[in-house]
Amino acid sequence: MPSPRAKRDVLSISDLSDDLGRLLSRSARLKAERSRGTVRPTRPGRNLAMVFEKPSTRTRVSFEVAMNDLGGHAIYLSSKDLQLGRGETIADTARVLSRYVDAICYRAFRHVDMVELARWATVPVINALDDLEHPCQIVADLLTMHERWRGRFRGRRLAWVGDGNNVFHSLLLGAVAMGIDLAAAIPAGYDPRPDVVDAARALARRSKASFEVVRDPREAVRGVDAVYTDVWISMGDEAEREARETAFRGYQVNNDLLSLASPDAFVLHDLPAHRGQEITDAVLDGPRSAAWDQAENRLHAQKAILELLLPPARPRRRAS
Ligand code: CP
Ligand code: NVA
Repeated sequence: MPSPRAKRDVLSISDLSDDLGRLLSRSARLKAERSRGTVRPTRPGRNLAMVFEKPSTRTRVSFEVAMNDLGGHAIYLSSKDLQLGRGETIADTARVLSRYVDAICYRAFRHVDMVELARWATVPVINALDDLEHPCQIVADLLTMHERWRGRFRGRRLAWVGDGNNVFHSLLLGAVAMGIDLAAAIPAGYDPRPDVVDAARALARRSKASFEVVRDPREAVRGVDAVYTDVWISMGDEAEREARETAFRGYQVNNDLLSLASPDAFVLHDLPAHRGQEITDAVLDGPRSAAWDQAENRLHAQKAILELLLPPARPRRRAS
């Protein structure tokens, strides 16, 4: 008997490193088809379970619409409403869901729980954000940069201003893999995890990209082609609100800071934004904001990821 195909999980953007170029081309094609109104259901009959421990607007809706466009179905499962919320283990939940669906996307508080779900699931698991990474967001962001830079990443300069958080970890790994030079302004005490930095250094050696972490946002932003920021207080960090508001003062993306970037520079934000904290209304709503394209691109990027992980269903045999 041939052995069953090993399932493929996307827990980190690095799980996609070798496929990023292909994913971006496919996402762009899917986007063009959708805007022409010629969406093709390439994965009919496939089912996705979506287990969410935290709120979501973009990730939830874009995954649901993606599965619908592909001809499949998505089932939203708040962890509170599952037996998971009453103490059923992640392992047992993973084994049971794997008997019904073709893939599971999971938004978790803790990366260890993401790993546990993937360990027990026999179908692909997609990280829909945890405390370590947000890989699907970064595929959409790379698509946004690809569009604005007309397909050329090498030699482009990107600045990050803010927390060395989950979004930053995935951005760092994704950007350097694609050859983008990244300068990050992050206050002391909020640096990225050393193991992520080590992994990024290895990727950067291969792609010849550079990255550095500095403290001064003005130093990071000077002359760059794009500036990316995210909330100062991520979901799960609420108890640290006061300390974070103090530490991140001075790390706001506003028109003063942007005046140091290249005149063509655009601004990225994964959203939701805390307007008046990490970004001003004038920037987010202004002509340099790419945030709305990023949000839209979640849909196209996730369709490409789902196609990669889910082979087309075999036609069901009719009973004779
Ligand atoms: N950017 C993002 O993941 O947004 P949601 O929390 O709304 O899904
Ligand atoms: N860093 C943010 C991203 C939200 C999409 C958070 O984890 O809450």
